[in-house]
Amino acid sequence: MSQAGNAARGNIPRGSGPEGDASPDDLLNIVGLRGGYAAADEIVKGADLRVAPGEIVALIGPNGAGKSTLLKLVAGLLRPSGGSVRFKEREIAGLGAPAISRAGLSFVPQERNVFGTMSVAENLEMGGYLDGAHAKKRMAELYERFPMLADKRRAAARTLSGGQRQILAMAIALMNAPDLLLLDEPTAGLSPRAAEELFGTILALNEIGVAILMVEQNALEALTVAGRAYVLAQGRPEHEGRAADLADDPTVRDLFLGGKAAPMLARSDGESSNREMGNNT
Ligand SMILES: Nc1ncnc2c1ncn2[C@@H]1O[C@H](COP(=O)(O)OP(=O)(O)OP(=O)(O)O)[C@@H](O)[C@H]1O
Ligand SMILES: [Mg+2]
Repeated sequence: MSQAGNAARGNIPRGSGPEGDASPDDLLNIVGLRGGYAAADEIVKGADLRVAPGEIVALIGPNGAGKSTLLKLVAGLLRPSGGSVRFKEREIAGLGAPAISRAGLSFVPQERNVFGTMSVAENLEMGGYLDGAHAKKRMAELYERFPMLADKRRAAARTLSGGQRQILAMAIALMNAPDLLLLDEPTAGLSPRAAEELFGTILALNEIGVAILMVEQNALEALTVAGRAYVLAQGRPEHEGRAADLADDPTVRDLFLGGKAAPMLARSDGESSNREMGNNT
């Protein structure tokens, strides 16, 4: 299996996948989703969002907009109070996290996404508990994909660097062989270099067919990697479109991207950046 960062990328390819209106072929199709932490306090207020097979979709927006809450509602950590979440043409709203995970949707939360005192290997075993029959084979594949994890398989997860920990968190989610990976701020707290490497890893996972819905604070970077994006404000997506268009949209720039272009991300062709992606290890 190829690793994202092994070859330096002159142009970061965007996630693949079709564009246009929602279709019955969507992998994930969310309509009118509502919910929060208490019945009286709705955080997500009628969200519509979709992910096609093989797409990378970014979800950006200000702090407190409800991005993490939306992911938790989709992954079954919170019970929606209304709306529909269809995954692989099946209604999953209200099913609960284990059943949703078993259906092929894995969630990497923003925080506490590894077991710090357990070894890397034990963390992966925990990720594979839903499908014990395939766990050994999947671990071997993940060690091949991420040699860093193989080198550190006996090390406690808390001894990993921030970037290594995020790789482990994603690898735990991949033990479930998901069709769709929900990532909540995978690059939070990472150095720019480590964040680039992680974006490279995300692209590599997408290249082997895993669709990705990611929440990101690094909005410009996320819009470089994603094919489509949503801007969430006050509990529902207010802007939706091709990531390249949103990155160039003056309203979006003013509201969420600090209003100015990032020089390193300036696109000459309207499609891709000129940055190099580094290695994962
Ligand atoms: N565990 C919780 N219990 C109660 N309210 C919560 C909880 N977590 C978040 N909230 C509230 O839900 C709202 C949305 O929070 P959420 O974490 O979804 O925002 P976010 O868009 O992910 O923000 P950030 O960019 O800071 O991660 C906030 O008003 C927050 O206070
Ligand atoms: Mg959040």
